[in-house]
Amino acid sequence: MEQKRGFFIAFEGIDGTGKTTMANILKERLETLGYSVVMYKEPTNETEAGKKIRASYVKGRATLEQELQWFIEDREWNVTTRILPALAEKKIVFLDRYFFSTACYQGVRKDNDWISILELNREKFPEPDLTIIFDLDVQIAIKRIMRDRESANTFEGMQYLRDVRALFLELFQLDTIGNYLLINAEKSIEEISEIIYVKFLELISETPKKESDLKEKKPSEK
Ligand code: TYD
Repeated sequence: MEQKRGFFIAFEGIDGTGKTTMANILKERLETLGYSVVMYKEPTNETEAGKKIRASYVKGRATLEQELQWFIEDREWNVTTRILPALAEKKIVFLDRYFFSTACYQGVRKDNDWISILELNREKFPEPDLTIIFDLDVQIAIKRIMRDRESANTFEGMQYLRDVRALFLELFQLDTIGNYLLINAEKSIEEISEIIYVKFLELISETPKKESDLKEKKPSEK
């Protein structure tokens, strides 16, 4: 299928909400329709900064300044090397965590100042076409994390995740720049998949805005 432009979706929310599972399911669903989808995650495994972040899951967290520097360094590489080229090739980019995670996870450590972290990131990095925030009660989220692993890592303390969740909700309510979709992650996989799928089709059929003379058919009509 010929797509007229790239489309960028960020999957966000606290750990244990099922966003990675959902991204995988949706990727398959869109590919069945003929869309070309690539999926990346942050922090990456590719940069020194990304590796240092991963090491800190077990070794203990770095200072706030150090974390911010690592996440931004890692993101610079990811955006330049993978995301922008994929969008230029008119692919659909799914990104498992982006600068909204920095705003909330690091924001909690910065007296809840998610605003300045978002601003800093927006000076450097592109805004997604859609940002999906998966919201879930922290106790349920931690149960889900523990189902897969023996112990939580240093980013996954109960009170910390509560604070991070609250910032995601605050950001959803107050930020006027992002295009957000808030998902109640207690819903079934089928329900969530359908909500995102419908939203995606609605947004993709609105584009491209500048080439309105080119009538775009919905994928299901092709
Ligand atoms: P996660 O997606 O859980 O990675 P993995 O599946 O490999 O464990 O993300 C790792 C952690 O990094 C997660 O707890 C959130 C945190 N994080 C931040 O604190 N700031 C950020 O900017 C990003 C991208 C992630």
